[in-house]
Amino acid sequence: MHEDSMRHFLSPADLTSDERAQILARAKVLKADQSAPERSALRVGALYFNPSLRTRVSFEQAVWRLGGNCQTLNTGSDTWQLEMDPHAIMDGDKVENIVEAAGVLGRYFHLLGVRSFPGSQPWEIERTEPVLQAFARHTGVPIISLEGTMHHPCQSLADHLTLTEKFGDDLRGLPVTLSWAYHPNPLPMAVPNSFALQAALAGCDLTLACPPGYELDDEVMAQIDRESKANGGNFRVNHDRLDGAKGAKVVYVKSWGRKDLWSDKAAERESRQPLRHWQFNDEAWDQTDGAKVMHCLPVRRNVVISASILDSERSIVLDEAENRLWAQAALIEHFAKMQGVLA
Ligand code: CP
Repeated sequence: MHEDSMRHFLSPADLTSDERAQILARAKVLKADQSAPERSALRVGALYFNPSLRTRVSFEQAVWRLGGNCQTLNTGSDTWQLEMDPHAIMDGDKVENIVEAAGVLGRYFHLLGVRSFPGSQPWEIERTEPVLQAFARHTGVPIISLEGTMHHPCQSLADHLTLTEKFGDDLRGLPVTLSWAYHPNPLPMAVPNSFALQAALAGCDLTLACPPGYELDDEVMAQIDRESKANGGNFRVNHDRLDGAKGAKVVYVKSWGRKDLWSDKAAERESRQPLRHWQFNDEAWDQTDGAKVMHCLPVRRNVVISASILDSERSIVLDEAENRLWAQAALIEHFAKMQGVLA
């Protein structure tokens, strides 16, 4: 049964600023504590429609840190093929509807993580996040996004934790650039949407450096602008790769696809061919103010970021990946307490 009051974690904005501060502080305590956890009653599921390395391992390890158990399922191979339309006449190859699948998983688990990347429908359809929204509607327990179409909030929480470790808890005014990079394929927009929104919530001085046409989701852009103003930060777009990096203390590098060509991948690939020089390399780094370089991983070396950066102390990508574990442990604990599973 869907409960309208049920809290989910589908966007960085789904936590209050107080909750975010508590979770980040708790993540640091958990990270410092190397003792074995006591067993707890916590039961967590993790359902993947797409591949993963970091999210899968760190999510399972996070639940283990809380003494609970986590069961991972890959849809299709570990489950029946799911029909996503609750109104479908199911006389084709799909065996189970999302309505029953979600409801059943909610009977087994206290919390459910779901990863579902966008498909190839026009952006206006994909951005409605039908899979995560269906799980939020039908599971009956909190849903934690393990990356959807619009957001990767667990990644941005870990990125925030990483920034506080490097620059202190107060990130207001920190010069941060989110820099688009060339990649042979149009990738999802969840990570950049979430990183930029999280930076705005933290009051950073945020620059989005991207070629024309590669701006983020329109509503997220408006939300970033609003949150920047509300939290004492700034937000601007710069279409110059080098100028956009100027003065940054942090550069978050990421590639993503353009909205207007979302449903035409061949045309999108064609349109990005002149943008191959959008690599984050020494020339770009030299524009910054000694920036730390971030990326969610996986990253294509010498395409998205040069090996010279990745192999230097300028890169903090492994810190981000480790912090997925600690940020998620604190987040899951927070939701488990709300569910009354952990004291
Ligand atoms: N950053 C991240 O989500 O990595 P995976 O896709 O490997 O889980």
